[in-house]
Amino acid sequence: MNNQYFKLNNNLETLKLLEIKNSLDNTIERINKAEINFTEALFELTEREIEFQKQRAKVAIVKVANFPFQKTFNDYDFSFQPLLNKAEILDLKYLRFLDNHENILFLGPPGVGKTHLATALGMESALNRISTYFISCHDLILQLKKSHLENRLEQRLKHFASYAVLIIDEVGYLPLDIEASNLLFQLIAKRYEKKSTIITTNKNFSEWGEVFGDTVLANAILDRLLHHSKVFTIKGRSYRTKDIIKVNITSE
Ligand SMILES: Nc1ncnc2c1ncn2[C@@H]1O[C@H](COP(=O)(O)OP(=O)(O)O)[C@@H](O)[C@H]1O
Ligand SMILES: [Mg+2]
Repeated sequence: MNNQYFKLNNNLETLKLLEIKNSLDNTIERINKAEINFTEALFELTEREIEFQKQRAKVAIVKVANFPFQKTFNDYDFSFQPLLNKAEILDLKYLRFLDNHENILFLGPPGVGKTHLATALGMESALNRISTYFISCHDLILQLKKSHLENRLEQRLKHFASYAVLIIDEVGYLPLDIEASNLLFQLIAKRYEKKSTIITTNKNFSEWGEVFGDTVLANAILDRLLHHSKVFTIKGRSYRTKDIIKVNITSE
């Protein structure tokens, strides 16, 4: 076929410039109507393509990192948690904590945004091409226990120890048996001073002995987690129930 328009479409497909391909007809029409000139059209098309590719990369990154949702620091309403140091949280975006292999812990009751902030931070590192993985404590334990049964524990521990950023969500929601506590200790010990771990928990550190069913083990885990770390304690109200509470107040 010698039709340049068709050939152009093929070229765009070969170069994987799919957004330019999608916008082509509309742009040609606007050029024909002299609404935009060639430079403007090319600039607009390339801008759209770049934005499209960025968005696609983001979706892929979120998928690979196993985030529960796509939430960023921009989506977080700091005015709802006035006791939280906004500047200190936003400073995390620069990922300085990775240099010293520091850990970040978000502590507080349900609904205050612990998972949201941990995910926002994980998105930041993942988008900077730093290997990042999100997993709930419950799933992590299930996976480690399974690999233990299958005689592949060392491999699995190495796998989870290899992420530059590992987010372990909901530590302490369910009490752990002694095997689970031991497995978690082994992973935390492997990552200690080598990688950064982000933890969310609803339990004060003084209650971790109960969670792990063993004070010595709980202290050994806390020791390694807290040695180089930043702890953010969120004391405010649950964002999940904010509207319910509002309704109650206004109806009084
Ligand atoms: N301050 C906030 N601003 C905006 N959204 C918030 C805020 N706090 C929580 N959320 C939202 O409320 C829901 C529950 O937050 P989540 O992070 O899962 O709470 P937690 O992990 O502390 O139980 C999520 O959809 C989250 O995005
Ligand atoms: Mg949570």
